[in-house]
Amino acid sequence: MCGIVGILGKGAAAPRIVEALKRLEYRGYDSAGVATLWHGELHRVRAEGKLRNLEAKLAAHPLEGEIGIGHTRWATHGKPTETNAHPHASDRLAVVHNGIIENFRTLRDELIAKGYRFATETDTEIAAFLVTDELAQGKTPAEAVHATLGRLRGAFALVFLFKGEDNLLIGARQGAPLAVGQGEGEMFLGSDALALAPFTDRIAYLEEGDWVIATRESVEFRDAGNNVVTRRFIKSPAGGLLAEKGNYRHFMAKEIHEQPEVIGHTISHYVDLSAQRLKPFDWPCDPMSLNRISIVACGTASMAGLIGKYWIERFARLPVEVDVASEYRYREPPIDKGGLTIFVSQSGETADTLASMRYVREHGGRTIAVVNVPTSSIARLADVVAPTLAGPEIGVASTKAFTCQLVAMAVLALALGRARGVLSEAEEGARVAELVATPGLLAEVLKLEPAVEKIAQTLAQARDVLYLGRGAAYPLALEGALKLKELSYIHAEGYAAGELKHGPIALIDSAMPVIVLGPRDPVFEKTISNMQEVAARGGRIVLIGDAHAAEEAAVAIESFLAMPDMAPTFAPIVYAAPVQMLAYHTAVIMGKDADQPRNLAKSVTVE
Ligand code: F6R
Repeated sequence: MCGIVGILGKGAAAPRIVEALKRLEYRGYDSAGVATLWHGELHRVRAEGKLRNLEAKLAAHPLEGEIGIGHTRWATHGKPTETNAHPHASDRLAVVHNGIIENFRTLRDELIAKGYRFATETDTEIAAFLVTDELAQGKTPAEAVHATLGRLRGAFALVFLFKGEDNLLIGARQGAPLAVGQGEGEMFLGSDALALAPFTDRIAYLEEGDWVIATRESVEFRDAGNNVVTRRFIKSPAGGLLAEKGNYRHFMAKEIHEQPEVIGHTISHYVDLSAQRLKPFDWPCDPMSLNRISIVACGTASMAGLIGKYWIERFARLPVEVDVASEYRYREPPIDKGGLTIFVSQSGETADTLASMRYVREHGGRTIAVVNVPTSSIARLADVVAPTLAGPEIGVASTKAFTCQLVAMAVLALALGRARGVLSEAEEGARVAELVATPGLLAEVLKLEPAVEKIAQTLAQARDVLYLGRGAAYPLALEGALKLKELSYIHAEGYAAGELKHGPIALIDSAMPVIVLGPRDPVFEKTISNMQEVAARGGRIVLIGDAHAAEEAAVAIESFLAMPDMAPTFAPIVYAAPVQMLAYHTAVIMGKDADQPRNLAKSVTVE
C-alpha cells in the first residue's frame, strides 16, 4: 500500500511533503520518511510509527531543500522499523516505493554478488541499487530508471530523487497509482490527487506501465514501450482542505454520523425524489441479454456485494455470484462475452479488485464500478461508474462508504428489474419510497448510541463474539464480525443463523456474546427459532430488532436494542449503524485506535 509523494518546488520541500503525507496516511501508517536535496546532497529523516513521530524528528532536525520525496508505509517486506522506512537510498539517489517488487530475491542476489550491501529487509532497496548500478555504467538518470523498470516484476509505483540533480524527479507506475500535479513553476508527484490538493488541482494520471520525467517546468510521459505519450491534465475535484474531525473524537464516529446525509446524497443521485422514480441508468450492456451477474470486491465492499445479491436476485430475477477479488482474479473464471460484472470499491485502488476488473475486460465482459473516489483507477477503467457519494472516508474501517454502496446496490437491483421487465412500475415506486425512508431511519437509529455504548461495555470483556443473521442480514452479520475484529482485535465470526446448528453451535457457552440481527423480514420467525437454540444452551444473546422483537422471541435476552419499525427490504442499510457503533465503542472502551487499527491501511494497493 503506502503513500508516496515527490515535490519539485520553490521554498522548503519537507514541510509540504509532510502535509501531503498526512493526506496519504490512510494508505499506511507504520513508519514514514522524507528525503531532500540540499546543495546537491541527499538528506533523509525517517521515523518508526505514525507520521507525528516523523514530524517531531523534523522539528528537531529540519531538512533544507526545495526538492524532495516522502513516504508513509504499510509494511510488506521487513518489519516497520526506522531502518526499513522509506526513502531508501544509495550514494547516488533516494527512492520511495508503493507496492511489491516480486522478483526482488533474484535481483538482490545478483546485486549482492556485484558487491552491493543491503541495509534493509525491504524489496525497495533493490530498485535503488539497480538504478545506481546503471548510473555507474554511465547512463543518465532517465536511461538508468528505464533500464531498471524493465527488470522489475510486480505492482509498484516509484519516485526517484538523484544526488546533484536539483531539477529532476522520475516516477513510474505499474499496477499502483501515480499522479502528476502541475503548479506555477513547480511539479508534484503523488499516489493520488488528494495528496497534491494543497499545491495544485491540475492533475494527470500515469497509465499502466507509464513512467515520467519531471522538472519544475516540464513533464514528459513515456509509455511501457518508451514512446513519448500525452497524458491529459484535468482539474481535479479533490478538495484542498484536509477533512476535519469536527466535534468528534474520531473520524470513524464522524463518518458514522454523516450517514443519513451521505446516503441521502447518494439516493438523490439515482432517484427523482419528486416523482419517487429511478432516474435513467446508462447500462454498459443490454440488461435483457444477461443470464447472470457477477459482483467482485474485497472486505467490507464485498459484504455490500453479498447484500446486493439478495436484492438483485429478488428484484431482477437474475442469478448473482459474489466473489472476493483475491480469489476471483486467479481462478480464471469463465466470462460471458458482453456479460456484466459489478465491482465495488471505496478507494477505487484496491489491487485485487482492479486486477479482476482488467481480467473481465480482457475477456470481453462489461463492467460497472460502484466506487467512491471518482478519479480512482477502478473508476477510470470501468465501462460505467455508479458513484457512491460518501465523500472522503478517512477512518480506516469503512462505514459511510459501505451504506452508500448498499444504496447503489439497491438502485442497481431495482433498475435492473425495471430494465428486464420483471419489476412493475408500481413496485418500483413502493421500493423507491422505502429506500428514500432510510436516511431518516438511520438518523433515528444514531440516537441509540448511549444504549449501544452500554452493550459495548460487555463486548469489550469478551474473547469471542458471534454475529447471526438471515437473508440480507446474514452478510451484515459478516460485516459486523469484520468491524469488531479489525477495530477491537476481538475474535468474531458472522454466521447465517440457520447454519448455526451445523457446527458453530458447539461454541455457545455462557462466555460468548451472540449478536442477533433480526429485522422484521419474512424470515424473522426462523431467526427467533435459532435464537431459542442459542438460549437453550445458555448463550448470551444481544438482540437488535424492532420494538416487539424481544417480546416475541420469548427467551432470556441479555441486551436488546430496539430499532424503529421499518419495511424490511432495505433494513441492512439502517441496521448497519448499530453494528458499526458497537465495534467503534468496543474499540474505544478497550483503548484501541479506532481510526487507524493496527496492521491495516485504508487503500490496499498490494495483493
Ligand atoms: C473494512 C474495510 C476493508 C475494505 C477493503 C476494500 O472496514 O474498510 O475491508 O472494505 O479493503 O477496500 P475498497 O472498498 O477501497 O476496495
